[in-house]
Amino acid sequence: MSKEQTKALTPEKEGRPQLGEVEGILLSQSTCNEWQRIQSFQARPDDLLICTYPKAGTTWIQEIVDMIQQDGDLEKCKRAPVHHRHPFIEWARPPQPSGRCCWDCMVSYYHFQRMSKVVPDPGPWHEYFEMFMAGKVGWGPWHDHVKGWWKVKDMHCVLFLFYEDMKKDPKCEIQKVAQFLGKNLDQELLEKIVYHTSFDVMKDNPMANRSGIPVSIMDQSISPFMRKGTVGDWKNHFTVAQNERFEDDYEKKMAGTNLTFCMEL
Ligand code: A3P
Repeated sequence: MSKEQTKALTPEKEGRPQLGEVEGILLSQSTCNEWQRIQSFQARPDDLLICTYPKAGTTWIQEIVDMIQQDGDLEKCKRAPVHHRHPFIEWARPPQPSGRCCWDCMVSYYHFQRMSKVVPDPGPWHEYFEMFMAGKVGWGPWHDHVKGWWKVKDMHCVLFLFYEDMKKDPKCEIQKVAQFLGKNLDQELLEKIVYHTSFDVMKDNPMANRSGIPVSIMDQSISPFMRKGTVGDWKNHFTVAQNERFEDDYEKKMAGTNLTFCMEL
Protein backbone atom coordinates (compact mmCIF):
# COMPACT_ATOMS: atom_id res chain seq x y z
CA MET A 1 0.00 0.00 0.00
CA SER A 2 1.55 3.27 -1.07
CA LYS A 3 1.07 6.63 0.58
CA GLU A 4 -1.04 7.67 -2.40
CA GLN A 5 -3.39 4.75 -1.83
CA THR A 6 -4.22 5.76 1.74
CA LYS A 7 -7.10 8.13 2.20
CA ALA A 8 -7.60 10.53 5.08
CA LEU A 9 -11.11 9.95 6.32
CA THR A 10 -11.68 11.70 9.57
CA PRO A 11 -12.18 15.42 9.99
CA GLU A 12 -9.19 17.33 11.29
CA LYS A 13 -9.98 18.94 14.63
CA GLU A 14 -7.70 21.17 16.67
CA GLY A 15 -4.72 20.40 14.44
CA ARG A 16 -4.87 16.69 15.26
CA PRO A 17 -3.71 14.26 12.58
CA GLN A 18 -6.31 12.50 10.47
CA LEU A 19 -6.64 8.74 10.14
CA GLY A 20 -5.79 7.03 6.88
CA GLU A 21 -7.32 3.86 5.45
CA VAL A 22 -5.81 0.59 4.33
CA GLU A 23 -8.01 -2.20 3.01
CA GLY A 24 -11.09 -0.64 4.57
CA ILE A 25 -9.54 -0.27 8.04
CA LEU A 26 -8.86 3.15 9.52
CA LEU A 27 -5.30 3.45 10.82
CA SER A 28 -2.97 6.22 11.88
CA GLN A 29 -1.13 7.78 8.94
CA SER A 30 2.19 6.51 10.24
CA THR A 31 0.80 2.95 10.34
CA CYS A 32 -0.53 3.34 6.79
CA ASN A 33 2.90 4.49 5.69
CA GLU A 34 4.47 1.40 7.27
CA TRP A 35 1.89 -0.99 5.80
CA GLN A 36 4.17 -2.67 3.29
CA ARG A 37 6.69 -3.55 5.99
CA ILE A 38 3.95 -4.69 8.40
CA GLN A 39 2.41 -6.95 5.76
CA SER A 40 5.71 -8.60 4.97
CA PHE A 41 6.46 -9.29 8.65
CA GLN A 42 7.66 -12.87 9.13
CA ALA A 43 7.35 -14.26 12.63
CA ARG A 44 10.05 -16.53 14.00
CA PRO A 45 8.87 -19.73 15.67
CA ASP A 46 9.57 -18.37 19.15
CA ASP A 47 8.00 -14.92 18.61
CA LEU A 48 5.14 -13.96 20.90
CA LEU A 49 2.55 -11.59 19.44
CA ILE A 50 0.14 -9.72 21.70
CA CYS A 51 -2.93 -9.01 19.57
CA THR A 52 -5.17 -6.62 21.45
CA TYR A 53 -7.84 -4.22 20.28
CA PRO A 54 -6.89 -0.67 21.39
CA LYS A 55 -7.65 -0.06 25.05
CA ALA A 56 -8.35 -3.72 25.81
CA GLY A 57 -5.47 -3.89 28.30
CA THR A 58 -2.41 -4.10 26.03
CA THR A 59 -0.10 -2.45 28.57
CA TRP A 60 -1.29 -4.76 31.32
CA ILE A 61 -0.61 -7.97 29.41
CA GLN A 62 2.72 -6.59 28.15
CA GLU A 63 3.84 -6.02 31.74
CA ILE A 64 2.61 -9.47 32.83
CA VAL A 65 4.44 -11.19 29.96
CA ASP A 66 7.65 -9.31 30.67
CA MET A 67 7.51 -10.10 34.39
CA ILE A 68 7.04 -13.79 33.60
CA GLN A 69 9.83 -13.78 31.03
CA GLN A 70 12.20 -11.99 33.43
CA ASP A 71 11.30 -14.42 36.27
CA GLY A 72 9.89 -11.55 38.32
CA ASP A 73 13.13 -9.52 38.26
CA LEU A 74 11.82 -5.98 38.86
CA GLU A 75 15.05 -4.26 37.89
CA LYS A 76 15.07 -6.00 34.51
CA CYS A 77 11.41 -5.06 34.00
CA LYS A 78 12.34 -1.41 34.58
CA ARG A 79 15.01 -1.44 31.87
CA ALA A 80 12.77 0.57 29.50
CA PRO A 81 9.19 1.81 29.12
CA VAL A 82 6.80 -1.04 28.42
CA HIS A 83 6.10 0.07 24.84
CA HIS A 84 9.83 -0.28 24.11
CA ARG A 85 10.13 -3.66 25.83
CA HIS A 86 7.22 -4.92 23.70
CA PRO A 87 7.30 -2.73 20.59
CA PHE A 88 4.19 -2.23 18.51
CA ILE A 89 4.40 -3.93 15.14
CA GLU A 90 3.66 -0.63 13.42
CA TRP A 91 6.49 1.10 15.27
CA ALA A 92 9.17 -1.51 14.94
CA ARG A 93 9.53 -5.19 14.14
CA PRO A 94 8.31 -7.59 16.52
CA PRO A 95 -0.38 -14.35 19.39
CA GLN A 96 -1.90 -13.50 22.30
CA PRO A 97 -5.29 -11.84 21.73
CA SER A 98 -7.07 -10.28 24.64
CA GLY A 99 -10.75 -9.36 24.65
CA ARG A 100 -12.33 -6.67 26.65
CA CYS A 101 -16.02 -5.98 26.39
CA CYS A 102 -16.91 -3.62 23.57
CA TRP A 103 -18.66 -1.16 25.91
CA ASP A 104 -15.67 -0.55 28.21
CA CYS A 105 -13.23 -0.56 25.27
CA MET A 106 -15.18 2.21 23.63
CA VAL A 107 -15.24 4.31 26.81
CA SER A 108 -11.51 3.84 27.32
CA TYR A 109 -10.81 4.64 23.66
CA TYR A 110 -12.87 7.83 23.88
CA HIS A 111 -10.84 9.11 26.85
CA PHE A 112 -7.60 8.05 25.14
CA GLN A 113 -8.49 10.05 22.03
CA ARG A 114 -9.21 13.07 24.22
CA MET A 115 -5.69 13.07 25.62
CA SER A 116 -3.57 11.58 22.82
CA LYS A 117 -2.50 14.13 20.24
CA VAL A 118 -1.51 11.53 17.68
CA VAL A 119 -5.07 10.42 16.99
CA PRO A 120 -8.11 12.50 15.98
CA ASP A 121 -10.05 14.44 18.58
CA PRO A 122 -13.07 12.29 19.48
CA GLY A 123 -15.47 15.23 19.71
CA PRO A 124 -18.38 15.00 22.14
CA TRP A 125 -19.40 11.59 23.48
CA HIS A 126 -22.57 11.29 21.36
CA GLU A 127 -20.55 11.87 18.16
CA TYR A 128 -17.88 9.38 19.18
CA PHE A 129 -20.60 6.85 19.97
CA GLU A 130 -21.82 7.01 16.35
CA MET A 131 -18.26 6.79 14.96
CA PHE A 132 -17.44 3.77 17.10
CA MET A 133 -20.67 1.97 16.17
CA ALA A 134 -19.90 2.62 12.50
CA GLY A 135 -16.41 1.16 13.02
CA LYS A 136 -14.86 4.48 12.00
CA VAL A 137 -12.12 4.44 14.61
CA GLY A 138 -8.44 3.68 14.36
CA TRP A 139 -7.57 -0.02 13.91
CA GLY A 140 -11.10 -0.78 12.73
CA PRO A 141 -14.20 -2.18 14.37
CA TRP A 142 -13.89 -3.96 17.70
CA HIS A 143 -16.29 -6.67 16.48
CA ASP A 144 -14.10 -7.70 13.52
CA HIS A 145 -10.97 -7.85 15.66
CA VAL A 146 -12.50 -9.99 18.40
CA LYS A 147 -14.53 -12.23 16.06
CA GLY A 148 -11.51 -12.80 13.85
CA TRP A 149 -9.29 -14.01 16.70
CA TRP A 150 -12.10 -15.98 18.32
CA LYS A 151 -12.63 -17.95 15.10
CA VAL A 152 -8.98 -18.97 14.70
CA LYS A 153 -8.08 -19.48 18.33
CA ASP A 154 -8.34 -23.28 18.17
CA MET A 155 -6.52 -23.57 14.85
CA HIS A 156 -3.28 -21.97 15.97
CA CYS A 157 -1.15 -21.62 19.06
CA VAL A 158 -3.33 -18.88 20.53
CA LEU A 159 -4.16 -18.01 24.11
CA PHE A 160 -7.37 -15.96 24.20
CA LEU A 161 -7.69 -13.88 27.36
CA PHE A 162 -10.46 -11.69 28.71
CA TYR A 163 -9.74 -8.46 30.56
CA GLU A 164 -12.72 -9.15 32.80
CA ASP A 165 -11.31 -12.56 33.83
CA MET A 166 -7.96 -10.91 34.55
CA LYS A 167 -9.69 -8.43 36.85
CA LYS A 168 -11.70 -11.13 38.58
CA ASP A 169 -8.93 -13.66 39.12
CA PRO A 170 -5.51 -12.29 38.12
CA LYS A 171 -3.68 -15.23 39.73
CA CYS A 172 -5.48 -17.77 37.60
CA GLU A 173 -5.07 -15.76 34.37
CA ILE A 174 -1.38 -15.01 34.97
CA GLN A 175 -0.80 -18.69 35.61
CA LYS A 176 -2.45 -19.42 32.22
CA VAL A 177 -0.08 -16.97 30.51
CA ALA A 178 2.91 -18.56 32.25
CA GLN A 179 1.83 -22.05 31.19
CA PHE A 180 1.37 -20.80 27.63
CA LEU A 181 4.94 -19.48 27.77
CA GLY A 182 6.16 -22.78 29.16
CA LYS A 183 7.06 -21.32 32.56
CA ASN A 184 6.31 -22.68 35.97
CA LEU A 185 5.59 -20.01 38.59
CA ASP A 186 5.78 -20.90 42.26
CA GLN A 187 3.29 -19.24 44.62
CA GLU A 188 5.70 -16.54 45.76
CA LEU A 189 6.61 -15.48 42.23
CA LEU A 190 2.99 -15.62 41.12
CA GLU A 191 1.94 -13.33 43.97
CA LYS A 192 4.78 -10.96 43.19
CA ILE A 193 3.67 -10.69 39.56
CA VAL A 194 0.01 -10.21 40.56
CA TYR A 195 1.05 -7.37 42.86
CA HIS A 196 3.40 -5.59 40.46
CA THR A 197 0.96 -5.79 37.57
CA SER A 198 -2.02 -4.58 39.60
CA PHE A 199 -3.60 -1.35 38.40
CA ASP A 200 -2.48 0.76 41.39
CA VAL A 201 1.14 -0.35 41.16
CA MET A 202 1.33 0.03 37.38
CA LYS A 203 -0.28 3.47 37.62
CA ASP A 204 2.69 4.57 39.74
CA ASN A 205 5.29 2.79 37.62
CA PRO A 206 6.94 5.28 35.21
CA MET A 207 7.91 2.36 32.97
CA ALA A 208 4.23 1.49 32.51
CA ASN A 209 2.22 4.69 32.94
CA ARG A 210 3.58 6.58 29.88
CA SER A 211 4.69 9.48 32.11
CA GLY A 212 7.87 9.75 30.00
CA ILE A 213 5.86 10.69 26.92
CA PRO A 214 5.82 14.47 26.32
CA VAL A 215 2.61 16.42 26.93
CA SER A 216 2.63 17.41 23.26
CA ILE A 217 1.93 13.72 22.46
CA MET A 218 -0.14 12.63 25.46
CA ASP A 219 -1.69 15.21 27.75
CA GLN A 220 -2.39 13.20 30.87
CA SER A 221 -3.89 16.24 32.60
CA ILE A 222 -6.89 15.71 30.29
CA SER A 223 -7.17 11.98 31.08
CA PRO A 224 -4.46 9.74 32.55
CA PHE A 225 -3.20 6.84 30.45
CA MET A 226 -3.81 4.56 33.43
CA ARG A 227 -7.30 5.93 33.81
CA LYS A 228 -9.59 3.68 35.91
CA GLY A 229 -8.77 0.08 35.11
CA THR A 230 -12.23 -1.19 35.99
CA VAL A 231 -15.00 -3.31 34.52
CA GLY A 232 -18.31 -1.54 33.93
CA ASP A 233 -17.28 2.11 33.51
CA TRP A 234 -19.54 2.10 30.44
CA LYS A 235 -22.47 2.54 32.82
CA ASN A 236 -21.18 6.01 33.65
CA HIS A 237 -21.22 7.01 29.97
CA PHE A 238 -23.98 5.26 28.02
CA THR A 239 -27.54 6.55 28.15
CA VAL A 240 -30.24 3.88 28.34
CA ALA A 241 -31.16 4.55 24.70
CA GLN A 242 -27.52 4.32 23.57
CA ASN A 243 -27.10 1.05 25.42
CA GLU A 244 -30.16 -0.44 23.72
CA ARG A 245 -28.89 0.52 20.27
CA PHE A 246 -25.37 -0.67 21.05
CA GLU A 247 -26.63 -4.01 22.34
CA ASP A 248 -28.83 -4.51 19.31
CA ASP A 249 -25.97 -3.70 16.96
CA TYR A 250 -23.62 -5.95 18.98
CA GLU A 251 -25.96 -8.92 18.73
CA LYS A 252 -26.22 -8.56 14.97
CA LYS A 253 -22.47 -8.16 14.44
CA MET A 254 -21.50 -10.97 16.82
CA ALA A 255 -24.26 -13.40 15.77
CA GLY A 256 -23.02 -16.95 15.43
CA THR A 257 -20.25 -16.60 18.01
CA ASN A 258 -20.76 -18.05 21.45
CA LEU A 259 -18.74 -15.23 22.96
CA THR A 260 -20.01 -13.68 26.16
CA PHE A 261 -18.44 -10.89 28.13
CA CYS A 262 -18.85 -10.12 31.76
CA MET A 263 -20.15 -6.52 31.78
CA GLU A 264 -19.68 -5.79 35.49
CA LEU A 265 -17.89 -7.39 38.40
P1 A3P B 1 -9.37 2.53 31.28
O1 A3P B 1 -9.23 3.67 30.31
O2 A3P B 1 -10.75 1.94 31.27
O3 A3P B 1 -8.90 2.84 32.65
P2 A3P B 1 -4.28 -0.32 26.48
O4 A3P B 1 -3.06 -0.65 27.27
O5 A3P B 1 -4.69 -1.42 25.51
O6 A3P B 1 -4.17 1.02 25.85
O7 A3P B 1 -5.50 -0.28 27.50
C1 A3P B 1 -5.62 0.72 28.47
C2 A3P B 1 -6.70 0.35 29.44
O8 A3P B 1 -6.25 -0.73 30.28
C3 A3P B 1 -7.04 1.52 30.38
O9 A3P B 1 -8.42 1.34 30.73
C4 A3P B 1 -6.11 1.22 31.55
O10 A3P B 1 -6.47 1.86 32.75
C5 A3P B 1 -6.27 -0.30 31.65
N1 A3P B 1 -5.17 -0.93 32.39
C6 A3P B 1 -3.84 -0.77 32.22
N2 A3P B 1 -3.15 -1.48 33.14
C7 A3P B 1 -4.07 -2.11 33.92
C8 A3P B 1 -4.00 -2.98 35.05
N3 A3P B 1 -2.84 -3.32 35.60
N4 A3P B 1 -5.16 -3.43 35.58
C9 A3P B 1 -6.35 -3.08 35.05
N5 A3P B 1 -6.50 -2.25 33.98
C10 A3P B 1 -5.37 -1.77 33.42
